[in-house]
Order: sequence, then C-alpha cells, then structure tokens
Amino acid sequence: MEALMQENRVFHPPADFVKGAAIPSMEAYNKLCAEAEKDYDGFWARLANENIYWKKPFTKVLDESKAPFYKWFEDGTTNASYNCLDINVEKGLGNKTAIIFEADDGTVSNVTYQEMLERVCKMANALRKMGIKSGDRVIIYMSMSIEGIVAMQACARIGAIHSVVFGGFSAKSLQERIVDVGACAVITGDEQLRGGKPLPLKVIVDEALTLGGCEKIKNVIVYKRTGGNVAMTAGRDSWMHDVVANESTTCEPEWVSAEHPLFILYTSGSTGKPKGVQHSTGGYLLWAILTMKWTFDIKPEDIFWCTADIGWVTGHSYITYGPLAVGATEIVFEGVPTFPNAGRFWHMIQKHKATIFYTAPTAIRSLIKASSNDEAVHPKSYDLSSLRLLGSVGEPINPEAWMWYYENVGGSRCPIADTFWQTETGGHMISPLPGATPMIPGSCTLPLPGIMAAIVDEAGADVPNGQGGILVVKRPWPSMIRNIWNDPDRFVKSYFPEELGGTLYLAGDGAIRNKDTAYFTITGRIDDVLNVSGHRMGTMEIESCLVANPLVAEAAVVGRPDELTGEAICVFVVLKGGRPTGDDAKKIATELRNWVGKQIGPIAKPKDVRFGDNLPKTRSGKIMRRLLRVIAKGEEITQDTSTLENPAILEQLKEAL
Ligand code: PRX
Repeated sequence: MEALMQENRVFHPPADFVKGAAIPSMEAYNKLCAEAEKDYDGFWARLANENIYWKKPFTKVLDESKAPFYKWFEDGTTNASYNCLDINVEKGLGNKTAIIFEADDGTVSNVTYQEMLERVCKMANALRKMGIKSGDRVIIYMSMSIEGIVAMQACARIGAIHSVVFGGFSAKSLQERIVDVGACAVITGDEQLRGGKPLPLKVIVDEALTLGGCEKIKNVIVYKRTGGNVAMTAGRDSWMHDVVANESTTCEPEWVSAEHPLFILYTSGSTGKPKGVQHSTGGYLLWAILTMKWTFDIKPEDIFWCTADIGWVTGHSYITYGPLAVGATEIVFEGVPTFPNAGRFWHMIQKHKATIFYTAPTAIRSLIKASSNDEAVHPKSYDLSSLRLLGSVGEPINPEAWMWYYENVGGSRCPIADTFWQTETGGHMISPLPGATPMIPGSCTLPLPGIMAAIVDEAGADVPNGQGGILVVKRPWPSMIRNIWNDPDRFVKSYFPEELGGTLYLAGDGAIRNKDTAYFTITGRIDDVLNVSGHRMGTMEIESCLVANPLVAEAAVVGRPDELTGEAICVFVVLKGGRPTGDDAKKIATELRNWVGKQIGPIAKPKDVRFGDNLPKTRSGKIMRRLLRVIAKGEEITQDTSTLENPAILEQLKEAL
C-alpha cells in the first residue's frame, strides 16, 4: 500500500491516440462530469437517446420513489438483441465480421452481423416454440463459443432472462442456481474443449437435474461441440442444430420495458449462498455501449478482444452485449492462455491483428512467469504492433505487472485502462480514459463521467484524500444492480446498509484517493469475499461446503496474498476424529480439496489446508479470523491475543503440510 501511494511514474496518453479519441482531453472529461453534476437526469437522458434504439421513447429518466429499487427509463421499450444486431444490419454493416472465433485447436470461424442476426433469430424462434416466454428464466451452461453468445442473444430477443453459469462450476452449484432462479430450460454443450482436453458439460447438467428441485426444467438444448458420447433424455433433451434447423431467419423481438430484467448472474457475497444479481435491459445496455466508447475508445476498424468467459459479468458486458451493440469486430476464444504454449495470447493478437486487448492481472502475472526463461513465448517474439490499447480487469494490478504489460505487450505506446467494476455495477466505474487521463501504475484513476464514486468512513461521512476508507457510489446509475433475485431484503442490506445512512451504494471494497491527484487505488475487499485469479469467492461458501463433509467438525477460511493468483484460499480445519498428522494429514487434505472442487467447482479448491484440535476463539466462542490471516501469511503474531481462549492452538495451526 505504502509503495503504491508513493508510485510517481506518470504515463500520458500518446499524442496519436489523443487525436482520434472519443474523450480527447481532461477538459473534455471534466466537461462531461460537469454536465452530469449540473443536470443528472438530462445527462443520462441525452446519452440514452443518442445511443439506444427505443421502440417507444421513455418519458421519465430516473424514478427514485422506491429507492433503493431505482428505475431508469422505465416507460421506454427496447430490446437488447435488436440493439446489437438488427441495428447494425440496418446501418449497412451486415457483411461486417461480428465475431472472429478461435477454437482451442486454433481453427478460426468468422460470423458477420447478418449471419449472427439470422442465427439468433432461428434460436429465438426455437425457444419460443418450446413455450419459453418473456420473463421466463433460462440457464446457460456453455463454454466459450459463438453458440453461447447466440443463446444469450436469443433469450434477450424474446425477453427470456438468461442466467449463465460458468462452465467450471459443479453439478451442485449448477443445481442451486437452477432452483434459485426457477429456470424452465437449460442450454448447454455436450462437452467443452480446453487446453486440448474434453471436459464434461452435459453429464454435469444431467447430474444437477437429479439433485432435486429442478422439476420446472422442461427442455435441455445441447450444442454439439466435440461429438462426445452423452445421454439424451427423450422428451426433454434436444440438439441445438435440430431445434433451429427449420426455423425462420427472422424473429420479431419482444419489446420490453427498459427495466425488464435482461439477466441474472450469480456471484459470491459474504454469506454461504451466492446472490442472483439482477440487471435491467435499457440502463445496462446503455452503460455497456458508453463504456465501449469511452473506456475502450472503440472505432469501426478496431479488432477488440476481451479474454473473459461468458460465465462472468465481463463476458456479458464486453463480449455478448457491448462490442456487438457498437458494431465492433471482436475475437472470441475458446481455449486457455497456456495451450499449446504460453505464447497463445500473443500469437492470437498477431494473427488476428487485435487492436484492443482486455485481460486479467492473473493472466498477465502467469504469462510474465512463463516467459521469464522462455524467449519463444515472450511477447517480444511476436508482432504486436496492431495493438493500440490495453485493459485490465477483475483485481488490482500491481505496478510491476502494469509496467511489464505496458512495455512488453503494449510496446510502451498503448494506454492501459485499469478498469475497476463489479458484477453489480454492470460496467466500468473507475478507469482511466485512454485519450485523456494520465496513468499511474496501480491506480484505476478517476470515476467515469456520471459515476459519483467516493470514499467514506464507517458512518458514511466523506474522508479526505490521502485517508483510506470505504468505496461507495453516491447516486444511482443506469447499469446498477436492480435487485437480488428472490431476496430484496438482502439487496437492501448488502448494498445500501443503514450504517452508511441507507442511500450510498456499498461496493464492498476499500479504497484510498491520492492527496495530490485524487486518483483512486482499490485496497481490496472489506467483506468476507476473496478474489482468487479474478474469481470472486465467499469464505462462508467454502466454509459451509467443508463442514458438510462427514469428516469435518469445524472450518474457517481466509485468504492470503499470492504472487500469481492475487489471493489464495487457506483453510483451517478441525476434524471430528482428532487432528491428523504426517501422511494421514496429507491424504485428508487432498480429500478435502477434492471435496470442495466437486461441491463448488475446481476454482474454489483451497491451496493450503491446516489442521488443529480447535480454532482460535474468543471466550464467547467467536473464531478470531484476524489471527488466522496472520498465520496463513506465515507471519509472526504480534497482535493482542489476550482475548484468546486457547492460545496453544496457534502453534498447531502454524504447521504447514
Ligand atoms: O474487489 C474488486 C475486484 O473485483 C471485485 C468484483 O468482482 P466481480 O463481481 O467478480 O467482477 C469482476 C469483473 C468486473 C471488486 O469488488 N476488482 C475488479 N476490478 C478491479 C478490482 N480490484 C482492483 N482493481 C480493479 N481494476
């Protein structure tokens, strides 16, 4: 933190970037901010009218009467798929490549806007034929593919609400989401291919559907990706190619209110149960479009590449909706960055002449490591001269990784947009504007125009620059979360807590603003949420999973810093049968890791497992997690342990396996 605040290298936007930029100076940025300050409704109304096709124009911009259940553009009607596809075809972009898809094995297939529109219409017609209507929920459990994007767009076209579940989640996680969202259909694949290996999808869906509560599922639609052997249940399961075969290539969109939910995406919070983050249609789409224009400065000739998965919000906003809504050409990649070798990203940038590249710090850090003693996979061995802008998302990017990215990938000529945002925010909140904002490595700089981000203390009062605090947003914005599906109370309590006065949006992160520049630096989560390789994980979720194992009596989960993954999951376990040692302990640790992998998904597997006869507790029985955090880091405990009931336990827990 100290080092970050002392970071004084400043990188100004390059002159030739500034020339054509959408926001070409700090004056232009300040002007937009001032416009929002002066007339908030007018600012958003202007942008919504300029950027979205409204079937029926809205007459009211923001309705705050039921705050914090804000409504934007509510009486306006529109359709997200129409705004992404039809609009571009009507503008004459039918023959423009919408998606350059590169498969795991390097095979490339392109689709134009016209073809995308036809495929989405066919799929939308097929869904309608199955009886799926506006407002129905559809689970999408697919790998990175054109078909995945078609499935999402087809739902949007008919007003069905999609809920994409990341392909790395387990059957149990999938079932929990199917039940919570009350889905009537699942769209999946036979298998997915990653790093040359087929991984199951359909088998996991089949298992999920046997776990109970999934009786509402009437249809399972399967995209044939590998041709692997999967069971098809008659009357329920069908192949995607069969259901679309005879459908028309046109499909009248469902014109929905701007407030109609476009999707629900589950994310982790500070309890054991993931939250179904509900997003709107109009406000969400508006911000996806504006951030494509402002943060990514998208131009008609750009080749845009966001490496995220459609299972996360980044894939929603910057693969499925944002790039298509602005008529861009984008790369969609099925595989992993290390296959067939760790030069895959650089090779693909060179091959497809990508101009904008948006990835996660974890990927950057792992590729720094992989190329440190292997010239062949170092970005310098590739022609990356097509790049003009880089982006980072999902976790703090440390200044060393920033510098490496800037120099080796961007050739010291591309600005880096370090974009701070969340599943709940729908799109970027705080980020440099590449043609305007001077960049400081490790800082996400300033809020985008119209985003009233601030830092407050525990009572909700502003703190001065230079003093750390809680990151909040003071005014509602169009792409904000609308609700937690099925749990409006949790929505209010999680995001608009009474303690802060009830009107501030609580992001869940700590932050600090620089005394001189007022730039924001995110200091990490202030709740029980971990960020492992940019994946968000609740410690309570992992704890409840562990205590569900028959061997486990008690468990506590904390994070510790990790060079590669940002944070690593560290678990402290008390077994029912006493504390294991030696090979026994190793065996049980592996068993517990696999258990978490099976119950939640491989991304939640703990890195460290430690056993004790007990956990450090206060006399009232509360687990002292702050001590566990110190032990997890391998540091000496210098904090006060006088309230600790059982100090001897600390020595046991220090023993790593
Ligand atoms: O802690 C922040 C971190 O990721 C969290 C949001 O995670 P999720 O909802 O999964 O969305 C990830 C993709 C938008 C935030 O609360 N985070 C995200 N971007 C940054 C970041 N932390 C620091 N800098 C960022 N640029």
